[in-house]
Amino acid sequence: DWNMPDYIAEAVEKIRSQVGDEEVILGLSGGVDSSVAAALIHRAIGDQLTCVFVDHGLLRLDEGKMVMDMFGKNLGVKVIRVDATDQFMNKLAGVTDPEAKRKIIGGEFVEVFQQEAGRLANAKWLAQGTIYPDVIESAGKGKKGSHTIKSHHNVGGLPETLNLKLLEPLRELFKDEVRELGVALGLPHDMVYRHPFPGPGLGVRILGEVKKEFADLLRRADAIFIEELRNTAIPLPVELAEGQGAGMFHKNWYDATSQAFAVFLPVKSVGVMGDGRTYEYVVALRAVQTQDFMTAHWAHLPHELLGRVSNRIINEVRGINRVVYDISGKPPATIEWE
Ligand code: XMP
Repeated sequence: DWNMPDYIAEAVEKIRSQVGDEEVILGLSGGVDSSVAAALIHRAIGDQLTCVFVDHGLLRLDEGKMVMDMFGKNLGVKVIRVDATDQFMNKLAGVTDPEAKRKIIGGEFVEVFQQEAGRLANAKWLAQGTIYPDVIESAGKGKKGSHTIKSHHNVGGLPETLNLKLLEPLRELFKDEVRELGVALGLPHDMVYRHPFPGPGLGVRILGEVKKEFADLLRRADAIFIEELRNTAIPLPVELAEGQGAGMFHKNWYDATSQAFAVFLPVKSVGVMGDGRTYEYVVALRAVQTQDFMTAHWAHLPHELLGRVSNRIINEVRGINRVVYDISGKPPATIEWE
């Protein structure tokens, strides 16, 4: 049981006494953890914090703008945006192996971040949005000869060569607590309750070789899917606490799924449009429900919703003429396609 205002006051105090008047840099990814860490640290030390937001060109539609608006404009946080799309695309050209792609994206990320950090010569601290489950997970690595099924590159793991002290104010918090904290710090509810998004981003949702053209198509298809999920309300029976009375309340399909996204399949199939024939790419929709992301069920989305998404994608995204729905559970399939 914790009291949020007290918690914030304590955390702010702790950050101030750790950092003193030194400068801090933080890699903002657009994800919940780094965002909440940024908001908290900014609350504590204001302009002593500089965030670096690396756009690798594999983000969702308008994500870069959203991050810049939220932090730069609304919260007044210093954010440097680095558009490294071309650099990432060049490095990824011709690469099809999923793990090789992850390594390249993770490696480039570190490179770009280091370059920016090098410019901020006064920085003494590197802040990260490490949360308690990350701490446990990395403590478990190496034990029982643990094998990585997929290497998970996040913002973390920035090398010691930066020679910075680590500031990790969320280290003791579980995800739910991080979310509560984010809302209390003024981050928008929708942002804080977003589905997880992998570090390599659309890089592992474009099967095989990553191309900017594919990323652009996928971004638009994905945005349509997410928008329809958010806009489709569902009546759900709720388990209510004693004395509150029974009832129904409406949730939307975005909130009712743990993760949902579109996947770009670099195969072409034939379609018809008007009097003509099309020969274009395929997009798969994936939506899962899970507690821990170790196992997952495919979400039983209403056919009407799926139909609407499919129609919109095919009508609005020229270059895609077929949409399929993934009905594989984990295991044996994974949540991501790569
Ligand atoms: P899979 O596909 O292994 O995904 O069932 C389980 C969860 O992990 C996320 N995921 C990643 N996250 N870097 C990340 O930061 C990665 O390389 C990566 N691969 C998978 C996935 O989105 C899901 O939430």
